[in-house]
Amino acid sequence: MKLLRTSVELDAALSLDGNQVGFVPTMGSLHAGHRALIDAAKHLSRTVGVSIFVNPTQFGPSEDLARYPRDLEGDLLQCEASGVDWVFAPEPEEIYPPGYATFIEVQHLSEGLCGAKRPGHFRGVATVVAQLLTRVRPQRAFFGEKDFQQLQIVRRLSRDLHLRVDIIGHPIVREPDGLAMSSRNRYLEGEERSRALGLWEGLCAVRRTREKGIRSAVALKRVASKILKAKGVVEDYIEIVDAETLRPLETLPLSSHPVVRLLVAGFVGKVRLIDNVAL
Ligand code: PAF
Repeated sequence: MKLLRTSVELDAALSLDGNQVGFVPTMGSLHAGHRALIDAAKHLSRTVGVSIFVNPTQFGPSEDLARYPRDLEGDLLQCEASGVDWVFAPEPEEIYPPGYATFIEVQHLSEGLCGAKRPGHFRGVATVVAQLLTRVRPQRAFFGEKDFQQLQIVRRLSRDLHLRVDIIGHPIVREPDGLAMSSRNRYLEGEERSRALGLWEGLCAVRRTREKGIRSAVALKRVASKILKAKGVVEDYIEIVDAETLRPLETLPLSSHPVVRLLVAGFVGKVRLIDNVAL
């Protein structure tokens, strides 16, 4: 497995692989969710590349950039064991050299949900993803559905900019008890780990209520809200949206179109977690 630290090294590796690359962009601190993306990439692509870059522009001023977990050595071991061909792990100056001035904004899709709670976050995500996809020019790129809004934004951006890449969304990987895998789970201390399960329990309760025929978004969201509160999760948002447009729905459709998604974000202590399910 090659470790590439600069664009020159990346270009040299890519000149050998053509455009047959299956690409998994990450911020490192890899877990089973990332490994599932790598496995999916291996299954579909001749060459698998992973980027590890904690992207400063997607963190707000009061967010956890400095505290974000970093473990390049451990990540490289996992990539090697998973059969990754190369890892691109640039320094921030490689992506944002002095004078850097170009940012990408994906309108509408970026505005609600996490976009409303974390101003500028998706501008940073879209900018770094556009850069990475332009530099790597992969045949396919793999993103987890846990960051559902991010996935839809990346799909839009790659269509709008004609990046000629197949964006593949991978189902959420969960702990045996249902907690969605996340690099932030490692911040959970003591009983926070069991409180965090409130997100998944809330989503499951809404799904059961929906299956009984309830179609009012307000009534369904109330179900999740109660469970978050009972578990000690401080609600950041609970929203039921059209999965394509991410526009909130008031009444759920009778048929399976449009596809409906329930998304939740909440704080367990200082740790902000997100999760979602199809309804
Ligand atoms: O999902 C992530 O880890 C990041 O947002 C991404 C897509 C690698 C961009 O920094």
